[in-house]
Amino acid sequence: MKKFYVTTPIYYVNDKPHIGHAYTTIAADVISRWHRMQGEDVYFLTGTDENSQKNVEAAEAAGEKDIKKFIDKMSAIWSETWDSLNLTNDDFIRTTEKRHLKAVEKFFNAVNEKGDIYKGKYEGWYCTGCEAFVTENDLVDGKCPTHQTKVEKIKETNYFFKLTKYRDKLLKYIEENPDFIQPKTRRNEVVSYIKEFMTDVSISRESIKWGISLPIDNTQVIYVWFDALINYISALGYGNDEEKFEKFWPADLHLVGKDIIKFHCALWPAMLMSAGLPLPKKIFAHGFFTVDGDKISKSLGNAIDPVDLSKIYGIDSVRYYLLREISFGEDGAFSMDRLRERYDNDLANELGNLLHRVLGMTEKYLDAKVPKKTGEDIENWPLIIDSMNQLNFTRALDEIWEVVREANRFIDQEKPWELSKIDEERLASVLYILLETLRNLGWMLQPIMPQIGEEIWLQLGIDWEKEKEMDFKKAIKWGRLKPGTEIKKGEPLFPRIES
Ligand code: MSP
Repeated sequence: MKKFYVTTPIYYVNDKPHIGHAYTTIAADVISRWHRMQGEDVYFLTGTDENSQKNVEAAEAAGEKDIKKFIDKMSAIWSETWDSLNLTNDDFIRTTEKRHLKAVEKFFNAVNEKGDIYKGKYEGWYCTGCEAFVTENDLVDGKCPTHQTKVEKIKETNYFFKLTKYRDKLLKYIEENPDFIQPKTRRNEVVSYIKEFMTDVSISRESIKWGISLPIDNTQVIYVWFDALINYISALGYGNDEEKFEKFWPADLHLVGKDIIKFHCALWPAMLMSAGLPLPKKIFAHGFFTVDGDKISKSLGNAIDPVDLSKIYGIDSVRYYLLREISFGEDGAFSMDRLRERYDNDLANELGNLLHRVLGMTEKYLDAKVPKKTGEDIENWPLIIDSMNQLNFTRALDEIWEVVREANRFIDQEKPWELSKIDEERLASVLYILLETLRNLGWMLQPIMPQIGEEIWLQLGIDWEKEKEMDFKKAIKWGRLKPGTEIKKGEPLFPRIES
């Protein structure tokens, strides 16, 4: 069985998840569901990045002296959020777990034995917001441009990783594997960073107390990014469960936001090269979005809670909106008004009404029974499949909505209410085509709107649990909806939202 291993970044627990974090995790869920649908053995990993100074500061700000207690509480909020959003991650890694600690130690030792660690002095700037060593060049008016905060001057003895030793190897790898970093703009950005700015990196901190102690010097803790990146293999059992590790590594896809590509596309591959491990197959960086025009931030109070939003619109509607509205890989704008518009128009009026009308007519004219087979395979399928494989969710949804609109147009053209008076045979074939199109739509929507897809099948009278287990390629062959099936028209898919 083909395997597919997909990861999200692990999130800091200094605050609860907002819609931007949910975006990445939802996208990984969509990809996971898509690959499971093809019968692949999927491992979908997410988790929390816990050995960070940001978390410590948040605990202190919350008046909590017991840092671990604060982190446990916050990490639980993250994992519960993903559960309540119906996300299907197979694992949830926490970097304070023992399995992670063991893997980090093993990994560090491998890199050290390779001769890639040396002791030195670091003197320069550090941004706790980014958890990164920054140079004068990165600053704007002496501040970190991302966090708008003052950076800290540090001068300490650190251990360094010989990142520059891997410069040529990295560049060669990126050139020979054009799909390694996507989209292309990000690849170019990474290449110019590697060529022009990349230096050896300090991988330990002397002045910090919270974190994993450096195996060769317990007065130092491991730099949080060096530790965090290892989560992608510690979760698989590196250093613990070799069988699982061998099965799933290398990752098929690391999904990240564009803010953290240097770590994922330069540091992480070089670390893996040093430890003698294979590199991930693909790193895809999606864009960032603003909320009603502003960057998402605590101080602006625009950090939308994905769970609250889902309570109003339904989880699947939020998934639909995020993936339809914002081209995957590009920056975008999240707007409550646009979400509302898409809910009312695309979802309630176009898709919801289609199901409602077709089932209503099947009840009225055909005694609620599926008529005899007719019609042919849906032409849009190859394009939808290709778009999903390319992670082009917007195009996939555009194609799916072509099918929805075409079905609505078909009703308006054929006018079943008139056919019922003059041509019963044509009426039956029109309705079969529409009902079978809806069954196909249930499949098209599975990865992006799983609950809605299932609800469509349920209302079509299909045993949806069995349908879901079907081999996808066979399931989308035209004509599988059995004549004689009794439909079960239910509540509207997208109820009207007041106000
Ligand atoms: N802990 C590190 C990642 C370590 S991975 C080994 C980190 N964590 S984070 O909590 O800051 O989460 C960053 C990720 O959240 C981004 O890379 C991105 O995927 C997602 N997003 C956070 N805000 C976002 C937006 N406003 N828009 C889109 N994605 C956003 O960095």
